[in-house]
Amino acid sequence: MNFDHILNNLHVKCSAEKDTGKIANYIPELKKVNANKFGIYLDTLSTEQVGIGDCNEKFSIQSISKVFTLTLALKIIGDKIWKRVGVEPSGDPFNSLVQLELEKGIPRNPFINSGALVIADLLVSKLKNPKEDTLNFIRKISNNQNIYSNESIAASEKKYGFKNAAHINLMKSFGNIKNSVDEVLDYYYQMCAIEMSCKELASSFQLFANGGVLPYNNEEILTPSYTKRINATMQLCGLYDEAGNFAFKVGLPGKSGVGGGIVAVCPHKYAIAIWSPKLNKKGNSVKALKVLEEFTTQTELSIF
Ligand code: DON
Repeated sequence: MNFDHILNNLHVKCSAEKDTGKIANYIPELKKVNANKFGIYLDTLSTEQVGIGDCNEKFSIQSISKVFTLTLALKIIGDKIWKRVGVEPSGDPFNSLVQLELEKGIPRNPFINSGALVIADLLVSKLKNPKEDTLNFIRKISNNQNIYSNESIAASEKKYGFKNAAHINLMKSFGNIKNSVDEVLDYYYQMCAIEMSCKELASSFQLFANGGVLPYNNEEILTPSYTKRINATMQLCGLYDEAGNFAFKVGLPGKSGVGGGIVAVCPHKYAIAIWSPKLNKKGNSVKALKVLEEFTTQTELSIF
C-alpha cells in the first residue's frame, strides 16, 4: 500500500478545503497558535513511516495526555482505579457537569475532564514527583527525552479553569478526590500543557498498537489485557460526544485534544497523529477528522 501517496494527496486536498472550525478560545494562551498549521505522521509497526507538513512541530497535546496518565495509573495501581472512575461513554461534552452530581461524583470515564482529574488524584497519591515522573514515563514510551510541559499554558488554564475547579470541588464533596484540590489541578494542567509533535505522538502511541510492548526495545509496559482496555476506552470515550461519529466514520480507537491533535491506533498495524488547530463544536479538529475518515476508507485499515 502506498501510504505516502495516499497521505500526501489527503494533505493537499484537506489544505485546499474551507475549514469552518475555530481555535479553542477558552484557554487564552492556546489562541496564540497559527490556525493554519497542519501536520500528519503515520508510524507503522513495520519499518514504514510517513511525515507530512508540520508533523515535526510541537503543539499543546491537551486531552491526549489523558491516555498517558490513564496508562500510568493502570500500570502502577491496576484495576482498583475502576472503583473511582467508570468506563462508559458519557454522550456529553468533555467538560459537562450534568452527570457528575447525579452519579455521586464518579465520572463516567477517564477521558472526560472529571475522569482525568480522578486519575490525576490517584497519581498524585502514588508518585513522588507527579509531574516529573509522568514526563519521564512519556519520555520512555516515546524513546525521546525532549518532552516538556509549557508552564505559561498551564498557568493560563489554571487562571481561567472555572469549570475544572467546579468538577474537582464537586468530586471532593463526594469523597472522590483525596488530595488537595490545588495540587491535583496543578498536576492536571501541567499534563494538558505537554507539547509534542505528530511524529512524537504517533511514535508513543505505537505502544497501544503493539499489545503494550515498546517496539523500539521490546519492553512490556502494559499487559495485553490492559492494552485492550485502553484501546476500548479510546474507542468508546476518546472523542467525547463525538465518539459514535468517530467509530462510524473512522473505525479506530482515538484520542483528541483541544490543541487540535488527534491520535488514532490500528491494533497490530499502525498509529497515526494529525494536527490542525481549528476545532468543530465538539472540540475536535475538523481536518484531523477528515484525514482519518478518508485514510481508513481508502486503505480499509480500520478495526471494523
Ligand atoms: O481541561 C481542559 O478543558 C483542557 N485542558 C483539555 C480539554 C480537551 O483537550 C478536550 N479535548 N478535546
